[in-house]
Amino acid sequence: MAPVPTFPVKVGQIDDVQELRKVEPSTIPERFVRDLTERPSSLATALSPPAGIPIINLSKLMKGNHDEFHNEILNLATACEEWGFFQVIDHGIELNLLENIEKVAKDFFMLPLEEKKKYPMLPGTVQGYGQAFVFSENQKLDWCNMFALGVEPHFIRNPKLWPAKPAEFSETLETYSRDVRKLCQCLLKYVAISLGLKAETFEEMFGVAVQAVRMNYYPPCPRPDLVLGLSPHSDGSALTVLQQGKGSSVGLQILKNNTWVPVQPIPNALVINVGDTIEVLTNGRYKSVEHRAVTHKEKDRLSIVTFYAPSYEVELGPMPELVNENNPCKYRRYNHGEYSKHYVTNKLQGKKTMEFAKIQTQNST
Ligand code: OGA
Ligand code: NI
Repeated sequence: MAPVPTFPVKVGQIDDVQELRKVEPSTIPERFVRDLTERPSSLATALSPPAGIPIINLSKLMKGNHDEFHNEILNLATACEEWGFFQVIDHGIELNLLENIEKVAKDFFMLPLEEKKKYPMLPGTVQGYGQAFVFSENQKLDWCNMFALGVEPHFIRNPKLWPAKPAEFSETLETYSRDVRKLCQCLLKYVAISLGLKAETFEEMFGVAVQAVRMNYYPPCPRPDLVLGLSPHSDGSALTVLQQGKGSSVGLQILKNNTWVPVQPIPNALVINVGDTIEVLTNGRYKSVEHRAVTHKEKDRLSIVTFYAPSYEVELGPMPELVNENNPCKYRRYNHGEYSKHYVTNKLQGKKTMEFAKIQTQNST
């Protein structure tokens, strides 16, 4: 999580959505009501294709025979090119650990507001409890409570924000993050292979990778048709690992061919998506796809999201191997720390943050 912005930020009144439900369960304050074009029903999700996002079996990549390996690498390439998203099964992270992180996350969100407020996400910052990416008094708000922490390397941690309750929170997050980090490194190896690159390409390029976690809690909403759980955005990471709470409602949607496609949770699978960094490095071959979350009338939803990104001092740009006459260079070179800062100091707005990296093409006459 990038440095704290230095400009003053006025965000106005931000109601805590869990508290709102307690006080006035049927009212939606104006600040949460989206403009017509942004509302969940404005694009026909009901018409979404029956095929879900691709599924990748990690054990086939790690232990499969030659044919299984080859097939799964091709599946991975297609998933990253056409969907930017896949669900990984047989990923090797213990079920126990998935359950434990879910439990501490849920227990944290269920604490009294006073307790959670001891770890506030201050306006303009991205760690702690609250709503991130709010930069003005009239910006619409997401129907969501967030709790975000920088994890690796240690200098991005803010130890004051690691909660005392629930008691097992910190230890569980440490163990979970260690395993998710290994998973990211492993997946990036296969992503490199699927591009015809040497397996260690990303590991060597990234330095000591930055890892952050964001837990999102979406309470039920009396009018899911009027609000968004999380505004449309692409992730600034290289890879994102998203765990959906057991029994949670379907809420994550990805934009494919102009249609919002819901991600149907598969028990114990993890949702992986390509972030902006990989899109830039592959010169657009692998896509950082826009996604959002919607809410549900009766059910709540929890997601635990890990962002894995290069070290801030790394300079990035499209890899020469992936640029040629047919695929001319689309992005400039930039410092990843600056990109991160740009990302966290702008509101979530589709793929807009990527304009930071785009080379402006000259229209030929
Ligand atoms: C995110 C994200 C979606 C979800 O946190 O970046 O896309 O389903 N979350 O919570
Ligand atoms: Ni996201």
